[in-house]
Amino acid sequence: MEKRAKDFGSEELFAPKFDRRSWRGNVGVVVGLLTLLLLLLTPSPLSDVKISFFRTSRAQNTEAGIKSKDAFSWSQITPSKELEYTPCFEDFLCARLDVPLNWNASDRDGGPRAAIAIVKVPARVPVTDPRYSGSVLMNPGGPGESGVHQVLSAGKHVQVILDSPISPEEPSEGKYFDIIGFDPRGVNNTTPRLRCFPDAFNQQYWLLKFPDYSFLWDYESVLGMEWARAEAMGASCQREGDENDMARYANTAQTANDMLEFVERHGEWREMMASVIMAKDAVPTAEQKAIVERTAWKKGQEKIQYWGISYGTLLGQTFTAMHPDRILRLVIDGVVDPDDHYSGTWLTQLQDSDSIVTKFCEYCFEAGPEKCPLWTGKSGRDVEARLEKIMDDLKLNPIAVATVGHYGPEVVTWGDMLLHLLTGMFFPYSSSEFFFTMLAELEVGNGTRVGSMKQSFLRAAEIPAECIRDGPFSDACVTSHYISGMGSFQDISCMDIAGRNNITKRDFHEYTMVLRNQSKWLYTSWARNKLACLGYTIAPAWTFEGPIAGNTSHPLLIIGNTHDTVTPLRNARRVSTLFPGSAVLHQDSQGHCSYSNPSLCTGKTVREYFQTGKLPEAGKICSTEWLPFIGCVNKDANGDCVELSLNDQILWDAMVGVTEVWP
Ligand SMILES: *[C@@H]1O[C@H](CO)[C@@H](O)[C@H](O)[C@H]1NC(C)=O
Ligand SMILES: *[C@@H]1O[C@H](CO)[C@@H](O)[C@H](O)[C@H]1NC(C)=O
Ligand SMILES: *[C@@H]1O[C@H](CO)[C@@H](O)[C@H](O)[C@H]1NC(C)=O
Ligand SMILES: *[C@@H]1O[C@H](CO)[C@@H](O)[C@H](O)[C@H]1NC(C)=O
Ligand SMILES: *[C@@H]1O[C@H](CO)[C@@H](O)[C@H](O)[C@H]1NC(C)=O
Ligand SMILES: *[C@@H]1O[C@H](CO)[C@@H](O)[C@H](O)[C@H]1NC(C)=O
Repeated sequence: MEKRAKDFGSEELFAPKFDRRSWRGNVGVVVGLLTLLLLLLTPSPLSDVKISFFRTSRAQNTEAGIKSKDAFSWSQITPSKELEYTPCFEDFLCARLDVPLNWNASDRDGGPRAAIAIVKVPARVPVTDPRYSGSVLMNPGGPGESGVHQVLSAGKHVQVILDSPISPEEPSEGKYFDIIGFDPRGVNNTTPRLRCFPDAFNQQYWLLKFPDYSFLWDYESVLGMEWARAEAMGASCQREGDENDMARYANTAQTANDMLEFVERHGEWREMMASVIMAKDAVPTAEQKAIVERTAWKKGQEKIQYWGISYGTLLGQTFTAMHPDRILRLVIDGVVDPDDHYSGTWLTQLQDSDSIVTKFCEYCFEAGPEKCPLWTGKSGRDVEARLEKIMDDLKLNPIAVATVGHYGPEVVTWGDMLLHLLTGMFFPYSSSEFFFTMLAELEVGNGTRVGSMKQSFLRAAEIPAECIRDGPFSDACVTSHYISGMGSFQDISCMDIAGRNNITKRDFHEYTMVLRNQSKWLYTSWARNKLACLGYTIAPAWTFEGPIAGNTSHPLLIIGNTHDTVTPLRNARRVSTLFPGSAVLHQDSQGHCSYSNPSLCTGKTVREYFQTGKLPEAGKICSTEWLPFIGCVNKDANGDCVELSLNDQILWDAMVGVTEVWP
């Protein structure tokens, strides 16, 4: 999502302490299913301090990518059954892969079509080079997050992580990959579009009318309101009667088949590219033969390389269960339990969440009064008590903020701070410390900064004249203010569970109470996911009947954090039993998926898996180089951070790059 820091009014509040480049990309009001669907734009004032020892270069590629975005439009590309890449976004390649709208249709090839939006960071060697090792597909989760966005903003960093550290100019056995992002069905640039709102203004109206009472489950009227909102939303997304609408065709099984189609078409593309290159370069005959053999399309046998996070792990598992013989490399990171997901039970996610806050408070206490804005008492427990007290006070006494500059009157509420807390819990590296700083300000009644931040991302969503001319839901109505993910996460999940989540208000209340026992911080927002399927009456066109399990052509690498916000380590362990030969890599950190707190050890393990296929030894635990408040973990006798070797530094910079732009 584009950076949307307000151009006026913010300087006096945020400068010079805030580096504008550190503003994160997404505005948040809704907590999504597996990731925060729309994140708070959280400036992290401390991030320059904490990473200065690692000489981080912030996503320059991203900045460039964003600047050039206006120049390219997906409608310039005609969808094609073969992969045809067109230059886009300055130095990326884009394609629109033409696939059946419904993989389960009897007239698959004659029926309606969909076009999957694909973006690629091309490999650093040509396909004729023996070190060219194919395409790696990514999925950022959600469900409903844009893989195009993910790879535009982080794909080059991902390539550094997976590629051989040896420069392609030097001879080596190293491997080099294309990095591929795609928008799954129902998401962003893939068509037909899933749309729940006629235009961006309607969407904004809906969001602004959604203040944080959505967090206050104690009041029955609020539950009634949330219930009705979910019904209205679901009924709007399904667009009944519109045969070509995406809603019935956007579930995980269909997208898994799109991935298989990509994998096959990639083989075709590779063979074609090799012959094009050989036709124009003078390649000796003996070498030609080897190239032809190596690059030949192995029709019906091409294999996938994939890295999926969060919901992307469910997509990866579903693909694997459907096509266990098509696995070359498959990493799932931040694991969803497939049976819990497909049954619509949704009870295996918050087991480790609250420990994250406890750990933050321990690190904060350990770091001492200089570095810990809420340092107090004798232990992490005392810090946590202080944090809880500030939060509790906000419930009864929201903080009034008078107008400042271009910002109007505002109120800072418990719900606002809960959203900031959740952002910190999901993304410790980028957001945990700043949350404590904000709380310290609120503790003394100063809501100026937090209140202004709340408004600083607002932009009036305009309706272009073309949208009025072409009518509601038309392409012209999808402006940069139209948030494409709104609706897709509900739709994909609801089509996955195919009506298995038929609840009453009473059931829902009980469900909420069970979740409350798992996590006092997350249960209020998480419970809402269960409501999302209200209002849907349509059935998915196709579902995969399971089981999610399989004997794979290459073992999976499965990653889990000690305390993950919504995908506990225990899920990784259980899923490993479903796919014999797979290995679990345990990263000793807090946050959602491994990238939320980078670890060189994890980066090297993932790289080795892609380079050689080798799995980590059983029981391997990776620690991280950085902890909240404490900063770098490895210090010398003077207390300075130990310098990294050049190769480690390059890997670290890439991992931080991913952390800061994802999701
Ligand atoms: C959708 O894709 C465009 C690129 O075509 C990207 O700029 C934008 O951020 C994506 N939207 C979301 C919500 O990720
Ligand atoms: C409130 O906090 C801001 C920093 O966020 C600071 O600039 C301002 O001086 C504080 N106001 C008061 C009255 O202390
Ligand atoms: C949902 O449950 C109610 C009551 O248990 C039942 O009457 C209704 O038919 C169910 N609906 C579906 C779609 O299964
Ligand atoms: C929540 O936990 C308490 C204490 O362990 C237990 O008594 C209660 O039955 C639990 N409630 C639910 C809804 O699971
Ligand atoms: C495939 O489509 C047919 C006809 O619409 C439907 O009866 C069947 O249930 C579908 N199969 C699956 C696995 O969803
Ligand atoms: C995997 O192979 C084992 C041993 O041959 C077999 O018992 C098991 O059922 C297979 N699992 C699946 C999901 O096919």
